[in-house]
Amino acid sequence: MSSIKTVGVIGAGLIGASWTALFLAKGLRVIVTDPAPGAEAKLRDYLQEYCSAVPNATCSLDACMQNYTFVTDIDPYLETIDLIQENGPERLDIKRQLFAHLDAHTPEHIIIASSSSGLPSSQFITDCKRNPSRILIAHPFNPPHLVPLVEIVPHSATGEEYITAAREFYLSLDKDPIVVKQETPGFIANRLQAAVCAEAYSLVSRGVVSPEDLDKTITSGLGLRWALTGPIMTNTLGGGGDFGHFISHLGPALRCWLDDMQEHRFDLGSRERVDALKDIVDGWVKNVDLKKVEANRDELLAELVARKLVALEK
Ligand SMILES: NC(=O)c1ccc[n+]([C@@H]2O[C@H](COP(=O)([O-])OP(=O)(O)OC[C@H]3O[C@@H](n4cnc5c(N)ncnc54)[C@H](O)[C@@H]3O)[C@@H](O)[C@H]2O)c1
Ligand SMILES: *[C@@H]1O[C@H](CO)[C@@H](O)[C@H](O)[C@H]1NC(C)=O
Ligand SMILES: *[C@@H]1O[C@H](CO)[C@@H](O)[C@H](O)[C@H]1NC(C)=O
Repeated sequence: MSSIKTVGVIGAGLIGASWTALFLAKGLRVIVTDPAPGAEAKLRDYLQEYCSAVPNATCSLDACMQNYTFVTDIDPYLETIDLIQENGPERLDIKRQLFAHLDAHTPEHIIIASSSSGLPSSQFITDCKRNPSRILIAHPFNPPHLVPLVEIVPHSATGEEYITAAREFYLSLDKDPIVVKQETPGFIANRLQAAVCAEAYSLVSRGVVSPEDLDKTITSGLGLRWALTGPIMTNTLGGGGDFGHFISHLGPALRCWLDDMQEHRFDLGSRERVDALKDIVDGWVKNVDLKKVEANRDELLAELVARKLVALEK
């Protein structure tokens, strides 16, 4: 993917700005656009903060700040771009219009990737007449300049060569892309997150555990281990190297817990339940310095990602 030198970033909100920092820190040139008033200044502030935080960056902050161009109209630049990363609002009408335009005005064989969190691309390529086979989802995890995961989700007519090229591109940026073989609502990571969160909401709202202690079960237990071995490998190791043994050993108990969870399923549609949960959570977080939590998280996250990169190279 050394042929990709210039990336077009469409939409410079939270995700677009973070992608821009990553691309710059890895030595790419970026043309970025966003129609919001004040977007250019906001982007500059984000980049000052994000670029130097990118693990294993190949460019200094100064070089990064010199290698992007913010434009109000990206059309005159579209011919010079080697890949597009789209980060506009999560709205079907906007993405539909945006993709029809990008498809019509970019070189025919460049990848157009959307950061969409949930809208599958089959729903917004409907007006693309030129080459929709180069369109796919490349869904990052916030913040993309730190978290390695990128979910590549093709639609049924995305070309195999574009899937391969997209994977290589994100790999070249030290990302850890996965390929989702079928469009599914929420893709993979957000579905897993939803499953865990649904049970967390249930346990906290039933008063089984405080929100603070619930979070600790993840940050000091499950999540900490999951950063190194995922659920399938964790089960395999838990079965003494045998996944089948794990299932036959713990399967009956697991079934019983799942049945109980089903019985106590948190009703996200109930205003009362949601308000009551919100009160419990607010009671905790009102005493927490959220800016500090976020800054500490991002600092340790960058260290952990860099450490994993080194470990994986061994
Ligand atoms: N926030 C997250 O945690 C997260 C994580 C992964 C993916 N995403 C996805 O990334 C995308 C962007 O999300 P975000 O959180 O950065 O939202 P955001 O609201 O921070 O940014 C969206 C930006 O798009 C701009 N915009 C509006 N119309 C546009 C147009 N026609 N062309 C170009 N830009 C336009 C807006 O001015 C805004 O700055 C969404 O599809 C979202 O689902 C978000
Ligand atoms: C900007 O990016 C281009 C394309 O990758 C690269 O050739 C150039 O050296 C970069 N410039 C700076 C100042 O880093
Ligand atoms: C860091 O970046 C270089 C150059 O892009 C790459 O070869 C290397 O694999 C990356 N990882 C580490 C841990 O240095």
